[in-house]
Amino acid sequence: MTASSFHPGPIGVFDSGFGGLTVLRALGKALPAHDFVYLGDTGRAPYGGRDTEVILDLSEQCVERLFDEGCRLVVVACHTVSSVALRHLQRRYASEAVGQAPRRVLGVTIPAAEAAVQRSRKIGFIGTARSVASGTFAIEAEKLGASEVSLRAAPLLAAIVEQGWEDTEIARLAVARYVADWPHIDTLVLGCTHYPLLVSAFEAALPKGVAILDPAPFVAERLREWLLRHQGYAVPRADGRGTLRVLSSGDPSAFALHGARFLGAALPLIEHVAEERSRLVPRARPSAPVGQVVR
Ligand code: DGL
Repeated sequence: MTASSFHPGPIGVFDSGFGGLTVLRALGKALPAHDFVYLGDTGRAPYGGRDTEVILDLSEQCVERLFDEGCRLVVVACHTVSSVALRHLQRRYASEAVGQAPRRVLGVTIPAAEAAVQRSRKIGFIGTARSVASGTFAIEAEKLGASEVSLRAAPLLAAIVEQGWEDTEIARLAVARYVADWPHIDTLVLGCTHYPLLVSAFEAALPKGVAILDPAPFVAERLREWLLRHQGYAVPRADGRGTLRVLSSGDPSAFALHGARFLGAALPLIEHVAEERSRLVPRARPSAPVGQVVR
């Protein structure tokens, strides 16, 4: 059974939180006629300090939610998930039952490594503790010919951005501290979906001549090429105007408030999802009674 024998769906994009909206922004620019469904797992973020096993479990739930929303192609925008869980997700969902539409899961680590290696041999990568501990970016960049790759974990930065503090002294001090005395790099890869909001803090902290690389436009270009080679997973709308749905496991109003900064545009109504028996399911309103019974 080929992919084109089935109905195409929207493109699913998943991140631990708001950060992946910076990737969605680039995807929307490259593919404006495609429909997207974005899932931000803000209710359970941050992922960056969690055990790999937990990340596998959470990311399976998110990918399955997006498949249940009709997506047949899911882009894992989160570098942490891409670093530790992508191969697992690809193996788990690539095998098709008879009559079931083929599904695919793509990530961000290889496009990020390709983009870095194209321009540099002395690469720095900054990301979450789990991304850095996995070493996945360095492995991929070295396979592509990078001669020196150094990695640094910056556990505070995603939280600072989630808080909306990216333009504050706290952000500038934290970034400066994390990149201090980083020897011999000419390109710094922003290896976390939150960090593009900290670009000016990185520019201020890094020596002149170190290029800052946001992988999102390269991820978008790779996806555009992938869709040309793989027909039938997602097709553009004839009127050229793709749609966007946004799901969040956290507080929808907080998502709406912060999310626009990441997307650079207004968000549609946020649809709430919540974990129930190890699955993420739509949640219109709290299912448990609130308040206390007076005795
Ligand atoms: N979205 C994650 C990433 O790109 C960072 C935030 C988190 O720790 O959940 O790695």
